[in-house]
Amino acid sequence: MSAIKKIGVIGAGNMGSGIAQKIIQEGIPVVMVDIKEAFVQKGVDTIKNMLAQGVERKIFTGQQVEEIVGRLTATTDMNQLADADLVIEAVFEDKAVKTEVFKKLDAICEPKTILATNTSSYYVKDFTNAISRPDRFVGYHYFYHPAKNRLLEIIPHDGTSEETMEKAVLAAKLHAKTAIVVKDAPGFAVNRFFVPFLNEAVRLLEEGVADIATIEEAAKRGFKIGMGPFELMNVTGVPIALHAATTLGNELGSFYAPAQMLKAQVDKKENWSLEGEVAESRVQPVIDRLYGVCLGVAAALVDEGVASIEDTDRGAKIGLRWIQGPFEIMNQIGIATTCDLVEAIAAKYPDFKTPRLLIQQKGKGAPFAFQFVDLEVKEGIAYITINRPEAMNALNEATVEQLDARFAEAQADPQAKAIVLQGAGKAFVAGADIRYFVKNIKAGRIDDIVAFTRRGHELLLKIENASKPTIALLDGLSLGGGSELALACQAIVATPAGSLGFPETGIGIYPGLGGMLRLALQVGPDLAKYYVFTGDTISATSADSLGLLARMIKPAEVDQAIRDLVNQGVPDKNRSRELPAAAQALAHLCAGDNAKGLLTGQQPQADDADLAAKTVKKIGYKAPLALKVANEIIDRQVGQPIAAAVEIELARLNEIFATADALEGLTSLGRKRPEYKGK
Ligand SMILES: NC(=O)c1ccc[n+]([C@@H]2O[C@H](COP(=O)([O-])OP(=O)(O)OC[C@H]3O[C@@H](n4cnc5c(N)ncnc54)[C@H](O)[C@@H]3O)[C@@H](O)[C@H]2O)c1
Repeated sequence: MSAIKKIGVIGAGNMGSGIAQKIIQEGIPVVMVDIKEAFVQKGVDTIKNMLAQGVERKIFTGQQVEEIVGRLTATTDMNQLADADLVIEAVFEDKAVKTEVFKKLDAICEPKTILATNTSSYYVKDFTNAISRPDRFVGYHYFYHPAKNRLLEIIPHDGTSEETMEKAVLAAKLHAKTAIVVKDAPGFAVNRFFVPFLNEAVRLLEEGVADIATIEEAAKRGFKIGMGPFELMNVTGVPIALHAATTLGNELGSFYAPAQMLKAQVDKKENWSLEGEVAESRVQPVIDRLYGVCLGVAAALVDEGVASIEDTDRGAKIGLRWIQGPFEIMNQIGIATTCDLVEAIAAKYPDFKTPRLLIQQKGKGAPFAFQFVDLEVKEGIAYITINRPEAMNALNEATVEQLDARFAEAQADPQAKAIVLQGAGKAFVAGADIRYFVKNIKAGRIDDIVAFTRRGHELLLKIENASKPTIALLDGLSLGGGSELALACQAIVATPAGSLGFPETGIGIYPGLGGMLRLALQVGPDLAKYYVFTGDTISATSADSLGLLARMIKPAEVDQAIRDLVNQGVPDKNRSRELPAAAQALAHLCAGDNAKGLLTGQQPQADDADLAAKTVKKIGYKAPLALKVANEIIDRQVGQPIAAAVEIELARLNEIFATADALEGLTSLGRKRPEYKGK
C-alpha cells in the first residue's frame, strides 16, 4: 500500500481549517484550498491561533508549532493537489458547490488520489456521478472541533473499493482519528440518534410536558452529560439542529421531522433561554421520552446495518463525549424497560416501529454482549484487534476473556500462520482497567483481582509459547498491562508512535503481568528496575536501541514488515545483548546496593550526578511500598524459570492491593498527585 505523503483539504472554514490543523499536527503535509485569498488567510489564522493556544497550554513548544505550520500550504490554486494521496472536501453544505468541486478535482488529480467528502446531510453516493473514479470515493465525516474530537465516521458507498477503504482507514489512523465504518445512510450513525434526541427535547417543550430547565436537568441526569439538548443547540447553532432534523425527516419520515418550535426558534434568530426552575416531578417522564427516542433510534440503525452496537456506542462516547453509549444505557436500565420505553414511542409516532433487535434481545432475557476483541485473517496472518479505543483499549475482564477466545480461534485456524496483536485507535493498550481494581478493592474482593491476574498470566504464557509466531504491533502508546502483553509476544514490531512504560509504582502497585520479569530477561534486572522505579516511557527508538523490537518501521510499511518477519522467522527475544552506553548508565543507577539506596532517597554514585539526582527525584514521587516489593520481586525472579517467576509476582498481589497507598494511587489517577503514607 502506498504511503500517505500529502493530503488536500478543500475549504478553509470551521471544519476545513480544523481538519488541516490536525493532519499537519500529526506530521503529514497538507495543501488547504479556498476560493478567495481572504478565506485562505482566515483559515491559516484560525490554525495559528489554535496552535498558539496549544503553546500556552504547554501542549506544544514554539519550535513544534513552527514545524507544524511548515507542513501547511494554503492557496486558492487547486492544481497544487494534483499529486495528493487524499483530498478531503469541506466546503459549504450545498450539493451543487460540492459537485463542482469534485468535478474539478477529478480532472486535476492523478489516478491514485482518493476523494473524500465531509458532508453531513447528503448521501456519499450522491457525488459519484460527477467523477470518473467512484471506486476511489468515500465519506469522511468529522466532528467539531476536528482537531480535538477524535471520532471519524468513514462511509463507503456501494462502489468504494476495498483498497480505497484500507487507505482511508490508514489515513485516519495516521492523523490520530478513531474511525468507525458506517453505512451510507441518513445521518450516518451518530447524528441519526443524536439529532432526534435534540428534536424530541423541543417536542417535549412544545407539548408542555416540561419546561426547558427541567428538560435540561432530565437529559443531564439520564445521559450523564454536562450540557442538556437546549444548551448544546445554543453552543453549536440552533439552525444546524433544524437543518439536520429537516434532512433526516425528508429521508426517513415524519418521526424524524423537525418540531414546529425548532423552526420558530430559528425564525426568531435567537438562542434558547435556559432560565427556570426544575420541576422534579417532570424529570422522570422526560428521561423516559428521551430514552425511548434515542435508544430506539440507536437500535433501529443497528437493525438496518448502519453500524454495529459497539461502533454506535463508540460514536456516542468519542464523538459526543457521553460517558455511556446508548447500548450501555440499555444494559444499565434493562432491556425489558428499554423495550417498554421504545414501544411507548412507537405507539406515539406511527411511522416509528420498535426495532427487531430490541424485541429479540428482550426474548433472550440478557443484556447486550459487546465485542471488544476482533479477529480477522488476512493473507495468511491473523490480526487480533483490541477494540476499545474509547478506553485506550484498557484490559478489563471481558476484554481479557475475549482476547483469550480470539487467540484460541487464531491458533486453531489453519489459514493463519502467524498472529498479530494490535490496538484500535491511537493506543496499543493502556494497561489494565483501573476502575476494575478500585471497584474490587472497595468491595473487599482482592482475591478477584488475583484470580483475574492469574488468568491474564495464563493467557500471556500461551501467547509467549504459541506454536505460531506471535507479534505485537506497537503503533501507539502502551502502558502497564499493555506493555506486558507486548513483551509477552514473541516479537514486537513498532512504529515511531509506539512506546512502553510501567507507571504502576506511581499508582501504588507494581507491574503484575510479567513485565518486570520479561523486561529483565531481555535487558537485565538493573535496567528493568530503573524503568519500574521511575515509570519512564520507553520510546520506540529507545526500545529499538535496547533490542526490544524485531522491527521499527513507518506506519505505511506495517503490513510488509509483518509479512517479512513471518517469512524470515522471529528472532529469539531473550538473546543476550550489549546495552547502549546511555542505557548502561541508567542500569548502573539501580545496580546492586544502589537500588535499595534509591528507595530511601539516597543518590547513588554515578558519572552523571545530574541524572542520578533526577532519578532520585522521580522515584520520590512513587509509592514506597510498591517500590520495595517491586525491587524484591525483580531480585527473586533472577534465574528462575518463567512459571516460578510468575508465581513470585502473583504471591505479592494480595499484600500490595491491600495497602492504603494502592487505593490512594489508583483513585488519584488523572485527578491529583497521590499522597503516599507508606502503608
Ligand atoms: N460544522 C460542523 O460541526 C460540521 C460537522 C461535520 C461536517 N460538517 C460539514 O463540513 C462542511 C464544511 O462546514 P463548515 O462548518 O466548515 O463550513 P464553513 O462555512 O465554515 O466553511 C466552508 C468553507 O468552504 C469554502 N468554499 C466554498 N466553496 C468553495 C469552493 N468551491 N472551493 C474551495 N472552497 C470553497 C468557503 O469559502 C468556506 O471558507 C459542510 O459540508 C458541513 O456540513 C460540518
